[in-house]
Amino acid sequence: MIPKEVIEEIVARTDIVQLISGYVTLKRAGSNMVGLCPFHSERSPSFTVFQGTNSFYCFGCSAAGDAISFVRRIENLDYPDAVEFLAKRVGITVIDTDVHETRSRFDRKRMLEMNREAAHFFHDELFKDNPEAATAREYLLGKRALARATVNHFGLGYAPNTFDTLTKRLRSLGYTDDELVAAALARRSEKTGNLYDYFRGRVMFPIIDVTGNVIAFGGRVLDDTKPKYLNTSDTPVFKKTRNLFALNFARGECAERLILCEGYMDVIAMHAAGFPQAVATLGTAITQDQARIMSRYTKRVVISYDMDEAGRHAADKAMKLLEEVGVEVTLLRLPSLPGVKDPDEYIRAAGADAFRKVLDGSQSKFDYTLDKILSKYALNDPQEKIRALAELREAIAGFPSSAEREVYIGVVADKFSIPAKSVREDVERALARNRRTYKKKEGETLRQSITGYQDRINPEFSKTPGIARNEETVLGLLLLDPTYRAALHRDPPVLTEDDFLTAFSRRVFCAVRDKIGDGEWEISALNEDFTPEEIGRIFGMRNRRMQLTENGDKLFSDCVAALKEAVAKEKITASDDPMAALEQVLKNKRSDTKGEE
Ligand code: UTP
Ligand code: MN
Repeated sequence: MIPKEVIEEIVARTDIVQLISGYVTLKRAGSNMVGLCPFHSERSPSFTVFQGTNSFYCFGCSAAGDAISFVRRIENLDYPDAVEFLAKRVGITVIDTDVHETRSRFDRKRMLEMNREAAHFFHDELFKDNPEAATAREYLLGKRALARATVNHFGLGYAPNTFDTLTKRLRSLGYTDDELVAAALARRSEKTGNLYDYFRGRVMFPIIDVTGNVIAFGGRVLDDTKPKYLNTSDTPVFKKTRNLFALNFARGECAERLILCEGYMDVIAMHAAGFPQAVATLGTAITQDQARIMSRYTKRVVISYDMDEAGRHAADKAMKLLEEVGVEVTLLRLPSLPGVKDPDEYIRAAGADAFRKVLDGSQSKFDYTLDKILSKYALNDPQEKIRALAELREAIAGFPSSAEREVYIGVVADKFSIPAKSVREDVERALARNRRTYKKKEGETLRQSITGYQDRINPEFSKTPGIARNEETVLGLLLLDPTYRAALHRDPPVLTEDDFLTAFSRRVFCAVRDKIGDGEWEISALNEDFTPEEIGRIFGMRNRRMQLTENGDKLFSDCVAALKEAVAKEKITASDDPMAALEQVLKNKRSDTKGEE
């Protein structure tokens, strides 16, 4: 456990606006700052940072919390890691040794060192004086035409086709079998229980994170056997959906544009040809996390995928995810050359200069969409022409910038020889319709998060929504105002956990009563016991009270009474004793006023 005072100190020293500004562009709105929410897709900013209370709240998706919750969510860290992350930022050393132990049985640092040893091993194997190594060298330096310097730069290597050479080496360095298996460098044979190397007979591509740690590997066969690549599965130091190959090199070069490729070899070919802005996903389609990570380093991404059907499909997905995080996207279109389907092959066939031209002429999303739609329809047929126009109108309406839309309206009008005015009218109709659906959808998400429909955080909410809403009102007031909290410590207390019907509310109540003092609002006290999603919900309770409440005292006593009554009713139904039931009714006679909402 990290001492409470240390955590409070860390949170207090963290300037939440500065912290969040590292991820979200914030603008001042009154005494708060607003921006586009990093946790859901939106076009108008509903993500609000309150400097006064050191907290954030999204009115769209109810994400909320303090600096720790923010870091947990955005960096996908667990609680102790998020604390450590912030501690480092503000220069506090967390002297809590069991942070690591409670987190996992495996020491992160040791696992990273072991990966580095493995990378050295693979690299050394590649340059050994034996026929197998010579074949691997011929593959990389000959067949794939890589320069020796490129091989060294990326730390490429070779995993010999033996049973357990790496395993033996790592054991000799003191790593345990469990550590080897956890790092996915070795596997345990089900039959014999013996360990064997995971990568065998493959050229090896180390994956290095932005701080220079070797976190994983990709390994390619030298021929056409399947699978072509093997990749490290997720380990305590590696999550494939949150890393990008070569971002360690690209990060310093990509402020203007970043090139997103499909494969390791595409990236390596580009770096070698003088385009160090290239990165690739790791054997999977691009994820939201990866899009978000890219948006932190660059404002423009050139998608440079294979020119086949699968590549185009993947490009569509990448385009969507990248636009959602506010990155400008263009698409690379490789001129067709015989035997060329990916950028690596293009560079080898046509050279770096030709590639630069293709790169600079990469298509905007609109050009790409226009091409796609035009090639789908026979434009000399009036019916098809109308359908093409309908699709283009929708596509143009999808662009948030009106200047941009105006340009594309002109292009389409020209192309179809019709007045710009009529295209513009069509687009505006589509736009109005989109806005309506969007508003409705946003309202729905908000309502769902409040009413508890499909409520994963408080699954009991929908059973007794009226009461559960009262519970949240009471909790919101307790969170907001220390005078209500003080009433919990009176004798007898105004409210106890027995007055709550839903387990989640009860849990929140106990935490609020037992963990939050009567001073300033300190959400950091709750971080340890609740997930970031739960924290969001708790913040929502408090925020709604901030906006909706006029006469807090009356609301508080009404809701408390309503809760007590509800619990009493519940008890009557549960009880068989008619006298007890009557007594309860009499006792609660006074309190039949209902809470608001
Ligand atoms: P490609 O099949 O396009 O391979 O897969 P490539 O990168 O062009 O490789 P070369 O040129 O044939 O050597 C693109 C990426 O998909 C992942 C790898 O990350 C690869 O770089 N992949 C592919 C796998 O993870 N497993 C596979 O079996 C194949
Ligand atoms: Mn290739």
